[in-house]
Amino acid sequence: MGTINFTVLTLFPELVDPFFEHGIISRAVDKNIITGKSVNIRDFSSDRHNTVDDRPYGGGCGMLMKPEPLALAINAAKQGSADSRVILMTPQGRRFDQGLALDLAARSEDLIFVCGRYEGIDERVCHTLVDDEISIGDYVMTGGELAAMVIIDAITRLLPGVLGGETSADVDSFRDDRLEHAQFTRPPAFESMDVPSVLLSGDHGAIERWRKRSSLKRTLLNRPDLLAKRALDGEERKILKTWCQELEALINE
Ligand SMILES: C[S@@+](CC[C@H](N)C(=O)[O-])C[C@H]1O[C@@H](n2cnc3c(N)ncnc32)[C@H](O)[C@@H]1O
Repeated sequence: MGTINFTVLTLFPELVDPFFEHGIISRAVDKNIITGKSVNIRDFSSDRHNTVDDRPYGGGCGMLMKPEPLALAINAAKQGSADSRVILMTPQGRRFDQGLALDLAARSEDLIFVCGRYEGIDERVCHTLVDDEISIGDYVMTGGELAAMVIIDAITRLLPGVLGGETSADVDSFRDDRLEHAQFTRPPAFESMDVPSVLLSGDHGAIERWRKRSSLKRTLLNRPDLLAKRALDGEERKILKTWCQELEALINE
């Protein structure tokens, strides 16, 4: 797999640049698994005031990002890549999740993120130059930069060699429609709460069974919608059946 190049088109490069300089993301840059850069859309404005926004036709509140600087910025970013996908950050796009992160990580295309500001961007840019529209959730933020960084972060940790073996993305939450099990580290007792003794037992079979139950319980309580999608194995069905019977007994007491 080659290097994935992330380009973030933004009016606020200073928000984005430090993101590539810390933690696991900067290690991925150092290992040449990814590159990351911001491009200031304002640099592609042609008037002497460097205007990038204008009033919406038909009236209404707020301003919109003008199409010309955006189009020039997108085309310049595309020219630097043989195989790229232009992704517009918008609350109106398809919702980002772990499945989409896995999909984008597997494609190994260069990704160009277009970050809106103001009330959004001129619709004609979406029609001609954008390959994909993605939202990070059903809420509206002031700009697309955080959304782009969320997506880049989630994709990067899935790329081979990024987590370096000390952590694996395979057991993370949302892989196979379940949440990860509860986790503990030292000390063994903290504020009168003990680490479950099985985790100190060294019995790997028992630890795996405990983790499976913990994962199942969390998913059932916190995200039953995931469990409904999951292909349950025999052991999980048995555990769930026992819990149902215990609940029934409790209700009938
Ligand atoms: C104030 S928002 C514009 C919202 C737009 N008026 C609407 O109602 O759909 C400005 C910019 O923030 C970004 N943005 C806001 N919320 C987002 C979300 N949930 N996911 C992705 N991008 C978002 C987009 O780039 C958007 O163009």
